[in-house]
Amino acid sequence: MPGDKSISHRAAILAAIANGSSRLVNYSTSEDCASTLSCLRQLGITYERVENEIQVNGEGLRGFKQPTSELNCGNSGTTMRLLLGVLAAQPFESILTGDASLLSRPMTRVARPLELMGASVSSKDGRPPLGMSGTSDLKAISYKLPVASAQVKSCVLLAGLSAHGRTEVIESLGSTRDHTERLLAWFGVPVTQSNESIGVAGPVEFDSNEVKIPGDVSSAAFFIAAAALLPGSELVVTNVGLNPTRIHFLSLLRSFGLDVARNNVREVCNEPMGEIVVRGIRGDSLPHQDIQLTGEAISQLIDELPLLAVVATQLDCRFEIRDARELRYKESDRIKTTVSNLRLMGAEVEEYDDGLTLTGPIKLHPARLPSFGDHRIAMAFAVAALFATGECEIDDSDCVGISFPNFFQMLNRVIVAG
Ligand code: S3P
Repeated sequence: MPGDKSISHRAAILAAIANGSSRLVNYSTSEDCASTLSCLRQLGITYERVENEIQVNGEGLRGFKQPTSELNCGNSGTTMRLLLGVLAAQPFESILTGDASLLSRPMTRVARPLELMGASVSSKDGRPPLGMSGTSDLKAISYKLPVASAQVKSCVLLAGLSAHGRTEVIESLGSTRDHTERLLAWFGVPVTQSNESIGVAGPVEFDSNEVKIPGDVSSAAFFIAAAALLPGSELVVTNVGLNPTRIHFLSLLRSFGLDVARNNVREVCNEPMGEIVVRGIRGDSLPHQDIQLTGEAISQLIDELPLLAVVATQLDCRFEIRDARELRYKESDRIKTTVSNLRLMGAEVEEYDDGLTLTGPIKLHPARLPSFGDHRIAMAFAVAALFATGECEIDDSDCVGISFPNFFQMLNRVIVAG
């Protein structure tokens, strides 16, 4: 699998504000992570990239230079939200923009805490382009997250590195992926954690380090789901990230009765990594089940929910997603786009403001499916297409490059090899 996208963004940003030069191994090949690197370059950070290995020359906490043009974050919400945290501490103005999808995504969630810390952020009704006016005098805050979001948590913690005093984020709506906390600790920054609170005491300078990035389990998810439901499949995903905040999806597949196991788990650079082994069976041979994905589980399944809806079409089940309104604010409105593509394939799906329901098993019809420019929708429906009764076409499928440029080549390879 390509290197983990979430960890790669964080590794590049932390390496840029470390003192000294950090080697990042297996950096994500995604367009999103390239956006992070190009923004860092505009901010005066130098790096050398040889394939997926990058040497980033860190300039310390306040070493960025004022960019001479807008910072283009492309399609990447993580680039924009995490960089804002670091830019809040740089005493200059910058403008952050992105593609049409990113320009429609909510940013008040990061602007508000940064303003409480003393930065000033302008926006277009809470959306990008954003004007960030940073300060070298950031105040520490205690901030209760109004949405369960790892991006917001990370943004505040990154700003907290330069603030005076202990900045604390409280995750009362459910815990989210913890790569920022783990990577900060890997770079030697003390991170305090108790119950729902995560804190850093600033200002805290830190030194460079080498980061070996595990394979992306969210990219692997598409192959795992397909293999688990195609009888006779055998799939081994090696060197993949197994962070507990990212693999709820795997436990769910197991709880459905699918054959998905973990092997050879070890810690690398403070992140668990190992193997995932999958054997395929017919999903509709399993007993009927009532599957409800709600509440705190949602934040740990957020990127896999469209795929799980596809999986449900192959099971004998009543399947429900609720409490997932956040899905509407992703690269596309993923409730709407999932429902609409499932319907194009002949599924009866009910849409709610915060989720959907369907009853499986469903015979999926061949269809021409829009990707809505959303990489995870394109890949989830490539999996759906494997179960359809005829050929499907996915429009604008190049958008998979946002997280996984070789997705279709790899899909062809594993299927032909099987
Ligand atoms: C991410 C966090 C999640 C996720 C996104 C990557 C991250 O977004 O959907 O793909 O790397 O922190 P939210 O924090 O907005 O839920």
